Amino acid sequence: MDTEDLSVNLSENALFASVVNRAINRRGFLKMGSGLAATGFLAGPLAGCTSLGQGSPSLLGFKAVAASSADTVTVAEGYTARPFVPWGTPLFSTGPGSHWKGDGSETAADQARQVGENHDGMHFFPIDGRSSNEGLLVINHEYTSVVKGRYITLFGSPAAPANSLDRVNKAMNAWGCSVIHIRKDTGGQWAVVLDSTYNRRLTSASPMELTGPAAGDALLRTSADPTGRRVLGTINNCGNGFTPWGTYLTCEENFNNNFGTTVEPQVDGRSPAQKRYGITAGATEYGWETQHARFDYKKEPNESNRFGWVVEIDPFNPLSLPKKRTALGRFKHESAAWHFTPDKRVVVYMGDDQANDYVYKFVSDQPYVEGNPAANRQLLDSGKLYVARFDNGATRGDFMGTGEWLLLDKQANPLLRADPDFPNQAAVLVHARLAADKVGATKMDRPEWVAVHPDTGEVYCTMTNNAQRTTSDDANPREKNVYGQIVRWREAGGDAAATRFQWDLFVLAGNPTVPGHPGTPQAGSANVHADHTFNSPDGLAFDRFGRLWIQTDGNYSNTGHFAHQGNNQMLAADPKTREIRRFLVGPRECEVTGFAFTPDHRTMFVNIQHPGETGRGNSHWPDGGQALPRSATVIVTKNDGGVIGT
Ligand code: FEO
Ligand code: CA
Ligand code: CA
Repeated sequence: MDTEDLSVNLSENALFASVVNRAINRRGFLKMGSGLAATGFLAGPLAGCTSLGQGSPSLLGFKAVAASSADTVTVAEGYTARPFVPWGTPLFSTGPGSHWKGDGSETAADQARQVGENHDGMHFFPIDGRSSNEGLLVINHEYTSVVKGRYITLFGSPAAPANSLDRVNKAMNAWGCSVIHIRKDTGGQWAVVLDSTYNRRLTSASPMELTGPAAGDALLRTSADPTGRRVLGTINNCGNGFTPWGTYLTCEENFNNNFGTTVEPQVDGRSPAQKRYGITAGATEYGWETQHARFDYKKEPNESNRFGWVVEIDPFNPLSLPKKRTALGRFKHESAAWHFTPDKRVVVYMGDDQANDYVYKFVSDQPYVEGNPAANRQLLDSGKLYVARFDNGATRGDFMGTGEWLLLDKQANPLLRADPDFPNQAAVLVHARLAADKVGATKMDRPEWVAVHPDTGEVYCTMTNNAQRTTSDDANPREKNVYGQIVRWREAGGDAAATRFQWDLFVLAGNPTVPGHPGTPQAGSANVHADHTFNSPDGLAFDRFGRLWIQTDGNYSNTGHFAHQGNNQMLAADPKTREIRRFLVGPRECEVTGFAFTPDHRTMFVNIQHPGETGRGNSHWPDGGQALPRSATVIVTKNDGGVIGT
């Protein structure tokens, strides 16, 4: 079980106890309604400021693909999906790691110069700001798959533990990010530019800087770093973001899983904050604490405070130190999606992926200034951090409501000012989850990626599932939610810095093919079609034409609740019509995650993470035969050279 399935939120914050069935009869939203697709926001007072005018043709031009349990990538007819830069791909032609051996026998030194494992969030930076033929592809490597303390692929087959210093270091070097210079060759195929000075691996040992209001605080100091400003590595790099000034944001998610203890006796020894962040007592599955004392929470109790941040990377400067931006708060970050306020301040929306955790936003103090990169690179160091409360609104059970952004500021928020648990703003940021508990944020169904509509500024956020939910509210309307939903909101006055918003559900995922589901919320909302049913929406992005791309990381058993859903998949949605159509299906036991587009939108990069994650030999993708399964990017193109999704 993923640790984020477990709720570690023991606060009293609202789950809005109520009778779930009252929440299921909003006319038209569910299939049992009038048959008219509910238009929600777009029919309400917020309509009219959108470019998605009525009568415009559907944004979805492709023919849907069927669900599949095959060990391959299936993509819509007329499209091609080609594996690219799988785990172990060399970035350099000579020296350590310049050859992928195929059996997992690479050393830590080799891995430090090869593409990492478990590809996740990603972005394409055109080499000159415009090119669709050459650029830097930056990829997150979230983790390496482990079952019962044994790494499934990292050391080859059979699965093995990280029981030596080199093995732990290899794992650390397989995590983090890759910056890969890529270019189309003379045949029009994308290829790695080997030995490019841009090629770079950032690992769980690479030097980085802590910046912003919490940098230097006592909570961030360790025996190796009495300044509280220098940290080694980034871990659990899940979703991502990017900035208008050309940098990459990598989001640290399940860092808690890397901190354990070898100190006997195995008494707990964790602080309340460490428990709230999900650090478990005793040994970890990854075993890093056996070789590096900083991952032992009893030996180095503050080290874990130095993870769980949004990290800003300049992909064009290989010598630059990545910066952990403490102003954006510390939690299990999924992704980071920006939008401008009318006066050009930068807002970053973020989800904290844990059952019953929260949605946040950061608003910079200073505006973005075109052509002043030095000033823009300070923007994420100073601003206001908010957490969301989703209220049911005037009507209960209509899948919509109002909301408020609650300020997480030690001085300005009386609840925090009065609380000795937060001696200063640094404590509020390092322990953002606890501060959010205090101010009464709404417990959500595992907030994952956030995406902002490029024209309207409407914000969409995936709630992947929440088997822990016991009471419902309008935004999280099902108990024991196995399918997930996508919530969206509009800020008051169209200002991303507003403290009030209106929200509704864009889709309630479900499965109408299961006997007994039709006519119940388990069938999903009216825009869930039997031919395109899915569970656990996770990755989320808009392309510049306003297509909403949805990726799943859920149950791929294809039976029971999940019958006819097949492997994890990617779908596209039209926000105006609400239609959702399946575009791509991944290989066995993978999740589909991460998006990047070239500026012309004729190449789309998508990541396939952890094919064959159970270690039972069910996947050999992408190499086939009896090969080790490898996480990889896939390059999606339209055979006629057209825009992806048309
Ligand atoms: Fe790394 Fe919440 O997915
Ligand atoms: Ca309501
Ligand atoms: Ca995810």
